Amino acid sequence: MNTPTTALAVQDLHVYYGESRILQGIDMDIATGCIAAIMGRNGVGKTTLIKTIVGLLQPRRGHIFIKGERAADWTPDLRARAGLGYVPQGREIFPKLTVLENLQIGLEARTDGLATIPENPIYDLFPALVDLKHQMGGNLSGGQQQQLAIARALVGDPDILILDEPTEGIQPSIILDIENALRRLKARGDLTIILVEHHFDFARQIADYFYIMDRGAIALHGPSHDLSDENIQQHLTF
Ligand SMILES: Nc1ncnc2c1ncn2[C@@H]1O[C@H](COP(=O)(O)OP(=O)(O)O)[C@@H](O)[C@H]1O
Ligand SMILES: [Mg+2]
Repeated sequence: MNTPTTALAVQDLHVYYGESRILQGIDMDIATGCIAAIMGRNGVGKTTLIKTIVGLLQPRRGHIFIKGERAADWTPDLRARAGLGYVPQGREIFPKLTVLENLQIGLEARTDGLATIPENPIYDLFPALVDLKHQMGGNLSGGQQQQLAIARALVGDPDILILDEPTEGIQPSIILDIENALRRLKARGDLTIILVEHHFDFARQIADYFYIMDRGAIALHGPSHDLSDENIQQHLTF
């Protein structure tokens, strides 16, 4: 498959919280259909970068291009409808809504007017959700909530799926389920995936390309097979 186009580009992005400068000139260029991992220690600015890409934070300087179009003035809803699916750190499912109702919220990002959840692909990927359909989101375990958050993003039929630490604080058996779901999504071939991930063994295995952040900047980037143990030692261990 030859898809030389860029799904998501970030140029010279500077982001502040008040007067504290968090991101200082981030550049990224993520090709359509590839998986890019964003790695880095706690507090280096990964979530700030993701929130700026999805439109929850405004950059002070720099540009974001979604499938070639400049997204500067687009609200998060518009970015979702343009093809960005977002699974936030901490999941942010609605605890007082059922699993089904949580999934229905994902439909709002669709542009084809589909009004019912496309059950087969979703439940095929996350069979654990089938029996939980009528449970309140808040009654689910952390791992089940994470599966629900990913499923909700997929209901929106994104072209670009962004996941912020999907395996954080989750028991190992469900981490495996989530990793397998991401492998199957990758095998589809048409979805671009941006994965913020602490487990660098998994990230290195699944990602085609990596970005390592350090103190608000990209310290290192390249194809995953170029990521050496020394790189990991230098930028990722504690
Ligand atoms: N709402 C906020 N207000 C002020 N500072 C924040 C806020 N959120 C995060 N920060 C700071 O911004 C920096 C980057 O945080 P974050 O993007 O969450 O890092 P990461 O996701 O890599 O752990 C940290 O120093 C953090 O303390
Ligand atoms: Mg974070």
